[in-house]
Amino acid sequence: MWLQLLLGLTLFVAISKQLSLPTDPTYHAGVVEFTVQKGTAKQRTEETTNLFLSIIRGADVADLDMLVFPEVVLNSPETATFVPDPAQNVTPCFMTDYDVFLVELSCAARSRGIYLVVNMQEKELCGKGYGADTWAPCPNDGVRIFNTNVVFDRTGKVISRYRKSHLWRREYKTRAVLKQADISTFTTDFGVTFGHFICFDMMFYEPAMRLVLEKNITDIIYPTYWFSELPFLTAIQLQEGWAYANDVNLLAADGSWPETKTTGSGIYAGRLGRLNASIYEQPTRQLLKAHVPKRIHGQPAVELPTIVLPRFQPLLTTQRITQVDTYRDFNLDIFATILLPLNFLNVSQRVCHNAFCCEFELQRRFIDNSNVYAAYRYRLGAYFGNETTVLRVDRTEQAVCALFACRDAELISCGSIFPAGVAVANTHYFEQAHVSGDFPAAARRLIMPSTLNGVFMPLPVAQYEWLESPAAKLLQRTRVNLTLTAPQNDLLTFGIWANYFTQLQSTHGLNHMQAVNANSNADNNSSNLPALNLFLLSTLFVLLGVFNKLTL
Ligand SMILES: *[C@@H]1O[C@H](CO)[C@@H](O)[C@H](O)[C@H]1NC(C)=O
Ligand SMILES: *[C@@H]1O[C@H](CO)[C@@H](O)[C@H](O)[C@H]1NC(C)=O
Ligand SMILES: *[C@@H]1O[C@H](CO)[C@@H](O)[C@H](O)[C@H]1NC(C)=O
Ligand SMILES: *[C@@H]1O[C@H](CO)[C@@H](O)[C@H](O)[C@H]1NC(C)=O
Ligand SMILES: *[C@@H]1O[C@H](CO)[C@@H](O)[C@H](O)[C@H]1NC(C)=O
Ligand SMILES: *[C@@H]1O[C@H](CO)[C@@H](O)[C@H](O)[C@H]1NC(C)=O
Ligand SMILES: *[C@@H]1O[C@H](CO)[C@@H](O)[C@H](O)[C@H]1NC(C)=O
Repeated sequence: MWLQLLLGLTLFVAISKQLSLPTDPTYHAGVVEFTVQKGTAKQRTEETTNLFLSIIRGADVADLDMLVFPEVVLNSPETATFVPDPAQNVTPCFMTDYDVFLVELSCAARSRGIYLVVNMQEKELCGKGYGADTWAPCPNDGVRIFNTNVVFDRTGKVISRYRKSHLWRREYKTRAVLKQADISTFTTDFGVTFGHFICFDMMFYEPAMRLVLEKNITDIIYPTYWFSELPFLTAIQLQEGWAYANDVNLLAADGSWPETKTTGSGIYAGRLGRLNASIYEQPTRQLLKAHVPKRIHGQPAVELPTIVLPRFQPLLTTQRITQVDTYRDFNLDIFATILLPLNFLNVSQRVCHNAFCCEFELQRRFIDNSNVYAAYRYRLGAYFGNETTVLRVDRTEQAVCALFACRDAELISCGSIFPAGVAVANTHYFEQAHVSGDFPAAARRLIMPSTLNGVFMPLPVAQYEWLESPAAKLLQRTRVNLTLTAPQNDLLTFGIWANYFTQLQSTHGLNHMQAVNANSNADNNSSNLPALNLFLLSTLFVLLGVFNKLTL
């Protein structure tokens, strides 16, 4: 009787809040693309907290189970907060030993009855015998900073924490990294276990691939502040490609500052493609929502409705993105490449980089021509090796077979678009495109589709076919075929991009990433590296100034 009443009540509450039940085939998730506020570190944190709170209070969030905010927009090292260890079962909303914004966010999660993931700059006290086990010695002031995701449950309790493992450029000078990467997962009341990591972590094996391959995680949460790079690593192209290659759900929330390369958030369902994703030319605060199919034994529990795409029409001009700045991939310069003729129609070409070969079959049809328009040239590229980097921050070993756009016949013009103000024509459209390669076996490898059109979106999964034979087992050489199944007016990239997760260390100009001996001594007695510590500390303060502008 009491039990029935209790069950009835729970059910009532659940229904009234439209929560996903463990038995439901989907859960409802939201990711927020979010702008960078102006002002001092303190003003930015206050302003951003208020904006986060108003989003959480907003009616749009009322039917969500899970809400994700992007990386680094909330606070900076100067406004870092302590973050409870999930093992402590702390609910900051009523255990107010934390910075006020952490308390407010905890209360907001509780009022809304929602799972909330917020990235923040965390501080931790360290010294002889206490604090986490990090590569860098404890700074002289006894406080170290982590770039951390914090997960609140529906009661506002901190149930998971993840500290970024692969830092981005100047972050190396201000943030600490654990020697043993966090493997952070949490299980929800709607029956899904999530893993989470941050931004640049997506390019590495630890912990991202370990979550998927070793922990069998099928749902990933991904706060990011991504700097897009052409032709392979723009924000949504990478997010969708990574989710596709691993066939997992991905909830990606990105910062929004397009003129400095950052924008592009989305919700993806692995090989079922994107559920909701968007990239913006102007700084934008936008909630994107989707019903995400739960996965049982790795398989999605529901079939998604087929999306009817508009009928193809050859178009001389199409919408294109010009206000999102991008890096250029300098790895291209050492690829084996072939420049295709200006007005090519049919191409059947093999391109080899040493022993690694890619096959290309292309067919274009003429649309129109005019001297007032500029048109992209195309190159076919092949590469397999380890003399590459990811965004020039860390070394990689990668294998690539791709068609990519260039502004002229020079290789150096590949990986950037015509600026705004240039009228660009699709003198031809791609009727067929086929790229394939024979990818060497490896213990650590991720082979992704990498496609992009003029509005910086990857092709919808319904517009290409992806075949791996034999079905990609890591220790087998794998033939991958990527074939267009719908004509395209404005391809910028069409290829296969494989990350072989090199174990080569990057040093980042500082010893602490590899000087294991110096570190263990330092742990023993942190003042025996005074020069390095002083350097770290002074760069910290110089950079805090810089961060006021750059927000990192
Ligand atoms: C992951 O799945 C594999 C294959 O189904 C299984 O052998 C393994 O025990 C699972 N690992 C975990 C941590 O659940
Ligand atoms: C994406 O999310 C927004 C906000 O909820 C919604 O208005 C829009 O319809 C969604 N788009 C798709 C394709 O589901
Ligand atoms: C290109 O290929 C198509 C289909 O195979 C064929 O019909 C056409 O004649 C070819 N064009 C040229 C210029 O080779
Ligand atoms: C890089 O690749 C080359 C060629 O495959 C190989 O000989 C070399 O050992 C690799 N270098 C490292 C440091 O792994
Ligand atoms: C994959 O591509 C290769 C080279 O273009 C081709 O020989 C092979 O038949 C294709 N395999 C499948 C299954 O389509
Ligand atoms: C710390 O210092 C002690 C005393 O000099 C020494 O015995 C010990 O090996 C040192 N530990 C490490 C990890 O270097
Ligand atoms: C650390 O080294 C300094 C300088 O060598 C020394 O003065 C100090 O006592 C040492 N501290 C510890 C805890 O060993």
